[in-house]
Amino acid sequence: MTGIEREIVLTPRLEATYALLESGDTVADIGTDHAYLPARLILDGKYRRAVASDVAPGPLENAGRTLAALGLSDRISLRLAPGLKGLSEGEADAVCVAGMGGELIASILKDGPRPDLAVLQPMTREEKLRRFLAEEGYRIEKERLAREGERIYTVLRVRFTGEISRPREARTYLGRVLEDNPPELAKAYLSKKKAALYKAESGHKSAGQEEEAAAFRALREEIEEYEKGF
Ligand SMILES: C[S@@+](CC[C@H](N)C(=O)[O-])C[C@H]1O[C@@H](n2cnc3c(N)ncnc32)[C@H](O)[C@@H]1O
Repeated sequence: MTGIEREIVLTPRLEATYALLESGDTVADIGTDHAYLPARLILDGKYRRAVASDVAPGPLENAGRTLAALGLSDRISLRLAPGLKGLSEGEADAVCVAGMGGELIASILKDGPRPDLAVLQPMTREEKLRRFLAEEGYRIEKERLAREGERIYTVLRVRFTGEISRPREARTYLGRVLEDNPPELAKAYLSKKKAALYKAESGHKSAGQEEEAAAFRALREEIEEYEKGF
């Protein structure tokens, strides 16, 4: 479990998020809850300062307790605000949004000062988030998977480039997971996605959208080919 021991022990999901954050001066953690992630980033010297922001007072109280216990209250500024609204333009080198649905993360990015670099950890609907990122001019630099029990989470490091693309829907189910992860983990992630892929394929088929259905079929076949490699 995540908790404060002699050091901050992060769950695999947050540890992967931590690993994708490059070092810098100031990091902002949006939806921080206990502020474990920014506390660990500061304790390890990855960043000099942090903003820990949350939309609800209860989580910020949790964060306040963490910072007081670790003597970090002067290094991490707590903000009660929705999404990126508590940040001023250019205040943070990197922004992190972890532990929320993919669509909520997309809406947070849409509505606030645009970060140049962000590390995003969607709990659900990551395909929607990948599509949003492509259409808004963010490039996915790296995508790291993390396993916690039966669940496999993805974490994306994205950079704003302004280059807009419109990937086929089927590609948004895959992201960069094959490039950036150990094959066993990528395979397990894709196996879990197969049911969603079948569903999307048959949905497009029954709507008469043959081209989209074919793209999903092609992706399924690509995954099956990939699986044969084991
Ligand atoms: C499940 S917790 C995740 C905590 C931590 N980031 C993690 O990944 O373990 C989600 C947190 O996001 C906060 N939250 C939800 N919607 C938000 C929004 N629009 N802006 C900022 N915080 C939000 C919630 O209050 C909650 O504290």
